[in-house]
Amino acid sequence: MLKGIANCSALREIPLFYSQTVQGVSVLASRVMAAAKKGFTYLQQRLDCCRSQRDHLVHFKEKYGPWAIVTGAARGIGKAYARELASRGLNVLLVDLLEEELNQTAEEIRSEFPIQCHSIRADLSNSQERQTVIDQSEQYSIGLFCCNHAMTKLFADGKLRAWIDTPIENLQQMVQVNLGSSIALIHHFANRMAVQHRGGILILSSMGAISGAPYVTQYGATKAFLANLGEALFWELKCKGVDVTTVLPGLTRTNDVEKGLTEYGRKTLSMMEPSEVASISLNALGKQCSVIPGKGNQLQHFFLSRLAPRSMSISFFGKIFPKCFHVIPLKNPR
Ligand SMILES: NC(=O)c1ccc[n+]([C@@H]2O[C@H](COP(=O)([O-])OP(=O)(O)OC[C@H]3O[C@@H](n4cnc5c(N)ncnc54)[C@H](OP(=O)(O)O)[C@@H]3O)[C@@H](O)[C@H]2O)c1
Repeated sequence: MLKGIANCSALREIPLFYSQTVQGVSVLASRVMAAAKKGFTYLQQRLDCCRSQRDHLVHFKEKYGPWAIVTGAARGIGKAYARELASRGLNVLLVDLLEEELNQTAEEIRSEFPIQCHSIRADLSNSQERQTVIDQSEQYSIGLFCCNHAMTKLFADGKLRAWIDTPIENLQQMVQVNLGSSIALIHHFANRMAVQHRGGILILSSMGAISGAPYVTQYGATKAFLANLGEALFWELKCKGVDVTTVLPGLTRTNDVEKGLTEYGRKTLSMMEPSEVASISLNALGKQCSVIPGKGNQLQHFFLSRLAPRSMSISFFGKIFPKCFHVIPLKNPR
């Protein structure tokens, strides 16, 4: 009978079945282990990423907090800076000319972020009002100054005109706002931060500063001054523990820019969002002396400032502006 059992084919297959099952289970186990390991590595990477983001924010707040002051903060790019700084946990002091929009922005930020947000209405081109801002800011421990305010248009209708067709008062007013007030404020906050041996300053220039920019001639020239100033300050203030970064945004979607564009300009030109400009440039603070937000803008800058002759860069602006923006032709061209 035993012989019969030994000869039974089903019984002979037991070891084979057993070894196949063991093999199958071990393959499955190793696959499960590999998948678990992959999942674990992924989770660890995500965790590391979140940790480094959190550390970056903590580091940012320690380095540039607890208060930041942003000029021209009621709308546009300045408002985006204020929001981005609030999202990084800094308290923000907003300064602008437009009282109603300024209060609205401050209210919006207070309701959205768990930080403190105060505002001061002031015309920064007026030396007394500027001094009031400086005096009032003394009560805050300011670690970051975002010099963003600017006079961006020379005429109330927002249209561009040739430099010689612009009244001298308008040209001088632009120098007062873009340079006079910026120099005074940067000088004040740079000194304050140098004493505390820590802080950051963002200076808003423009891609219009790369070369002469016809039809935004005066604006481009003031922004070129700021770009140059900021780059030198980056070096001078480094040993004082103060980070300076100059920002050269390309076309950015703000109300005034959109209003100034022709139909052709709207279709042809690409624009960045103010929030992108704010977050990219704040990430560059302490790392770069200047930053051009956006890959397309960087490419354009590389072409216009490194590859093309300077005259080509100037004529690029001279040709593109009358097509893309509302430009009033030169009076008495002959
Ligand atoms: N948007 C772009 O495409 C672009 C491109 C390159 C560079 N930028 C630069 O980025 C910065 C922000 O631009 P933006 O487009 O956001 O400009 P914006 O919309 O005109 O905002 C600038 C803010 O600054 C305020 N301001 C002007 N003069 C002032 C003064 N004397 N005192 C106090 N506040 C004053 C403005 O108030 P009012 O409206 O009452 O004047 C406005 O609220 C500027 O420095 C600009 O040059 C912008």
